[in-house]
Amino acid sequence: MNKYELKDSHKKTIKEICESFGNKHGELINILHRTQEHFGYLPEEIQYEIALNLDMPLAKIYGVVSFYSFFTMTPKGKHPISICMGTACFVRGAEDIVQALEEELKIKVGQVTEDGKFSLDCLRCIGACGLAPVILIGEDVHGRLTPDMIPGILKKYE
Ligand code: FES
Repeated sequence: MNKYELKDSHKKTIKEICESFGNKHGELINILHRTQEHFGYLPEEIQYEIALNLDMPLAKIYGVVSFYSFFTMTPKGKHPISICMGTACFVRGAEDIVQALEEELKIKVGQVTEDGKFSLDCLRCIGACGLAPVILIGEDVHGRLTPDMIPGILKKYE
């Protein structure tokens, strides 16, 4: 089997997304956004399919996906957790928050829990520095965190 083999239904979806943007190279970011919204992430086989549809080198698509932090190549949990590692959060203890989350969830940054509920990622400043250190769980912002607050916060998403 080809390393990049995808289900036909997935190929069809990607084709439709690319067509909805006129297969234009200038729409690549929008196409990637829409595709990530649909599949949750952009693994290599999906990038390859987009490359075929747009008649564009895979390396170019990979370059864009890896440059922008809002694109991800790994699957996310039902409740994706993003830890801000911007300067304000970093100096106010973001590393301790990472450690508390990793211990509580028993996963490392970049991984998903076995039950698929949570995933952990790091972000650059999300513009809520006054609340540092900050994490996002889905769309929810949690700020002024200390490691001992983590178990209680996670419980709300169980
Ligand atoms: S540095 Fe974390 S919100 Fe700005």
